[in-house]
Amino acid sequence: MTLLHAIVRFSLIMAVVQTEPVLDSSYVAAVYEHNPILNPEPRVPLARTAALQHMQKNLDIYEEQAAEAARQGAQILVFPEDGLQGFNFSRSSISGYLETIPDPQQESWNPCTEPGKYNNTEVLQRLSCMARRNNLYLVANMPDLQPCPLKTDPTSSCPSDGHWQFNTNVAFSSDGLLVARYHKQNLYYEESFDTPPQPEIITFDTPFAGRFGLIVCFDILFHEPTIALVKKGVRQLVFPTAWMNALPLLDSVQFHRALSLGANITVLAANLRHDRLNMRGSGIYTPFSATYHHAQRGDPEEGRLLVARVPVLDPEWLEQRSATQERVVNAESPTSTAADSGFCHKDSCSDAPPPATASSALPSSATFTSSMMKDPFTFVLLNEAEGKLNVCNGTFCCHLQYRRSPHSGSKELYALGAFAGTHTADGRLALQVCALVRCAGSDASSCGQKVEEAESKIDFLLEGKFDTRYVYPSVLASKMVVEQPDYFEIAADGRVTLKHSNMTGGLVTACLYGRMYQLDKK
Ligand SMILES: *[C@@H]1O[C@H](CO)[C@@H](O)[C@H](O)[C@H]1NC(C)=O
Ligand SMILES: *[C@@H]1O[C@H](CO)[C@@H](O)[C@H](O)[C@H]1NC(C)=O
Ligand SMILES: *[C@@H]1O[C@H](CO)[C@@H](O)[C@H](O)[C@H]1NC(C)=O
Ligand SMILES: *[C@@H]1O[C@H](CO)[C@@H](O)[C@H](O)[C@H]1NC(C)=O
Ligand SMILES: *[C@@H]1O[C@H](CO)[C@@H](O)[C@H](O)[C@H]1NC(C)=O
Repeated sequence: MTLLHAIVRFSLIMAVVQTEPVLDSSYVAAVYEHNPILNPEPRVPLARTAALQHMQKNLDIYEEQAAEAARQGAQILVFPEDGLQGFNFSRSSISGYLETIPDPQQESWNPCTEPGKYNNTEVLQRLSCMARRNNLYLVANMPDLQPCPLKTDPTSSCPSDGHWQFNTNVAFSSDGLLVARYHKQNLYYEESFDTPPQPEIITFDTPFAGRFGLIVCFDILFHEPTIALVKKGVRQLVFPTAWMNALPLLDSVQFHRALSLGANITVLAANLRHDRLNMRGSGIYTPFSATYHHAQRGDPEEGRLLVARVPVLDPEWLEQRSATQERVVNAESPTSTAADSGFCHKDSCSDAPPPATASSALPSSATFTSSMMKDPFTFVLLNEAEGKLNVCNGTFCCHLQYRRSPHSGSKELYALGAFAGTHTADGRLALQVCALVRCAGSDASSCGQKVEEAESKIDFLLEGKFDTRYVYPSVLASKMVVEQPDYFEIAADGRVTLKHSNMTGGLVTACLYGRMYQLDKK
């Protein structure tokens, strides 16, 4: 800890102790949903000067937003994936946009105060000065060119043109120092980028909230790096994304919120806003709160800054702070717990009453198969105003107790679906999923199709016995509202329970999305 950090921390503690103990150990986070200015012809190579001119237009917008975030007290600001250059480049047409980003684990460089150290780093310099001028930690995403270390090594994964191109997050401290560089592991149809030779587990430390881990977009669905970070005890993830929404199960706000709840972590999610590719929905998610924005159809296609005060979750930071605090003011009982990382288990969960046990011997109604997210789900319809249902896919079973509100949307069709298997479209994901969905039409064959609105309010208890502890719960209501479930628990035996009632809007999807990471490659 530097002297400066000690002073900052000390004065923060004093201010907090004297005024508002509730604000003890919290910080202000900001994410910016950016409507990028795009290159209309991404497959035509541009000279460096033209590529820079293009990126400066997006940087001008970042600059305004950084000032506004700082005005609102933000201590960390996150910009989305691809926000500076856009997308749909080829490997060669992106060349004018590339900078070579030095490894902050090897050397200390402040691009704002030492601009002459490296040529061809105008974007890094501008981002660094933006962080410094506004006195906040700043994370952005940009393309990185790295020469391969040993071109002649036959085992190396070096591309034939002698260098790598990476989709990259960069993080700057509030004085402009480059503190972290992370190369995206799980690419999603990105012709212009390479997968790094090794998965990178990258974090950076802040004086106000401790440690943050870095991931990009599609990474959020995989063990490397997301769960690897969580297993290391990282409880705050910075998540630039260019997320294409995929109802009924993987809308941006729905899934990003679900990961935050299921993993008991904070996720700072900055998405692009680009309607033609259905990219929208950003948020600041903690296990206790969600501050998010999801534009509706027809809303003007524009950016949106979100700012929220959230609790620090980093266990080491909390431990240090309470040690300091005890020394300084002999404060109340420490709040830190080093064992909070990871997932919800029975004895550590919220103290809501235990739900009624599911009986797998219930008679099941007529099942049918319908495709959801391109996977063959086994479904059963909700035919009554209230009842209990079971549906299985093989030995994996989902159980539902439900009561429909008598005054809302009684004609809307709902179904309970189960899927156990490997999703193979657009990437391999081994899954176990229980989902209660509103069907898009009045016919059973429409169950599993995309629908955004609903009128039916349903009180429910959704349960399944999972062969994984990585289960992400979501309750998505009409018009992309995410609700905080009344109760969620992952028991030690794998039984997972999601309970919710008194919805504010009609139910679109209630889901337990289980990931069987260990089976992805099989
Ligand atoms: C850009 O890429 C997206 C996603 O792969 C694709 O759907 C879209 O059609 C592409 N747009 C252009 C202009 O090539
Ligand atoms: C930057 O480029 C100029 C002109 O090509 C060259 O003279 C200079 O040595 C370069 N500086 C660095 C740090 O590479
Ligand atoms: C989640 O983390 C909080 C502290 O941030 C802890 O009190 C709680 O027990 C954790 N919940 C679970 C289910 O692990
Ligand atoms: C799940 O259902 C699908 C579609 O009916 C079926 O092909 C698959 O074999 C089932 N999975 C298991 C584990 O039985
Ligand atoms: C739901 O609302 C009803 C009626 O207002 C109330 O009695 C009940 O306690 C509420 N349930 C929950 C879980 O908030």
